[in-house]
Amino acid sequence: MTRLDDIRGRPVPIDDLTAFGPGFAWGAATSAYQVEGAVAEDGRAPSIWDAFCRVPGAVARGETGDTACDHYHRWAEDVALMKALGLGAYRFSVAWPRVLPAGGGPVNPAGLAFYDRLVDALLEAGIEPHATLYHWDLPQALQDRGGWPSRDTAERFAEYAAVVAAALGDRVASWATLNEPICAAWLGHLQGVMAPGVADVRAAVPASYHLLLAHGLGVQAVRAAAPGARVGIVNLLTDCEPGSDREEDVAAARREDGHHNRWWLDPVHGRGLPADMIEVYGVEPPVRGGDLAAIAAPLDWLGVNYYRRSVNVADPDGPVPHTRQITPAGTPRTGMDWEIHPDRLEKILLRVTREYAPRSVMVTENGSAYTDTVTPDGAVHDTERTAYLEAHLAACASAIRAGVPLDGYFAWSLLDNFEWAYGYAQRFGLVHVDFATQRRAVKDSGHRYAEIIRAHRDLHGHQDLQGRRDLRAHRLAGRSLE
Ligand code: FCB
Repeated sequence: MTRLDDIRGRPVPIDDLTAFGPGFAWGAATSAYQVEGAVAEDGRAPSIWDAFCRVPGAVARGETGDTACDHYHRWAEDVALMKALGLGAYRFSVAWPRVLPAGGGPVNPAGLAFYDRLVDALLEAGIEPHATLYHWDLPQALQDRGGWPSRDTAERFAEYAAVVAAALGDRVASWATLNEPICAAWLGHLQGVMAPGVADVRAAVPASYHLLLAHGLGVQAVRAAAPGARVGIVNLLTDCEPGSDREEDVAAARREDGHHNRWWLDPVHGRGLPADMIEVYGVEPPVRGGDLAAIAAPLDWLGVNYYRRSVNVADPDGPVPHTRQITPAGTPRTGMDWEIHPDRLEKILLRVTREYAPRSVMVTENGSAYTDTVTPDGAVHDTERTAYLEAHLAACASAIRAGVPLDGYFAWSLLDNFEWAYGYAQRFGLVHVDFATQRRAVKDSGHRYAEIIRAHRDLHGHQDLQGRRDLRAHRLAGRSLE
């Protein structure tokens, strides 16, 4: 168990909030399959996660996202909760199989209507909607035609992105193409521990490439359908360090950095695919003329999801990239055994700023899982999650002071939810969900986050949604003059 004072980093003294500029987006995030439920309603077709959950042994205790947080029916209550917490922004994902059940072709208006209602309710509550187009729930119909290893999937993604941006682009300003393509590619096609459960480097490399291509084509499609859109991508990034100073472990950390960070950042920033990694994979990505330019379309912002650092040793007999992650003894950990290192969040934010010069950065996910207990009076005293939140906000403040153009922070997650292959036991929410009754209860961490947001607003004066958007636009304009 982690004790509060084991956590490195400082708590956020309220006056440290001066680092976060006016208009800073204080948000929380979720994703469609993890919270919506209602998997067979209003014309939604199955996704690869519906299928994967039915593979014996794939998900802990055989759990599924069939009901999840029932957010598809309880969205109004959930928006009211966000408003009560004082959130300024909400990052959600759109379920592709609700909107285009066959992956391409006919649009399902009932599926789109759900996001229409959600966006209107958010705006009504003064909460800025941040939409992510793909958070891993590929329509099974596309998987049946080859999935991400097939180029057609990237083209269908552009079609889907155009449909969603045309429907919501008059109200949603901030768009992410993909969430963590690293997981869809490597965990889904190389390690086989996430949907679609394939473990083959010859599938994984083309899958990773077509995800990057989908991003590039998606950027174009969103901008064409919603000219004012601010488009970015969300990557899971971390500091990859060697587990010892032995030469082979130092080399392993370098390979893991290529696999985890550079493979996803370099092509998007016009540097092409890392040649050293193509050699490590031993598989040539199926690049066609014009693709790399599309993938490198300049972005309005870069999303960073950060949870933990990565400590690596060489693993010559393991799958590519022949590295294995270890968890050194004695470091503080969350309930999921993930190491707690807020300083590495600052380090990765500084690195992306230095190496890729993004116009704007958002921490699009950050959080910690514990099992949590509810007291008889309905409270959740999650002191460890609260400390994790404060320490990582302190790291953000310090990154901003060091020059990172950080414009938002989204706690993962608003609600306890379906944590993929881990099922429901590990809880990341600021709000506790009793999955038997669907009762929501704000945890102490949620109350603390609300307090921090309030304190920041007091510092800069209350701004309505448009005011906050204008302030950010002003900051951005100022940066491009620098
Ligand atoms: C990220 C995912 C998110 C959630 C958190 C804990 O990798 O984007 O859906 O599972 O981890």
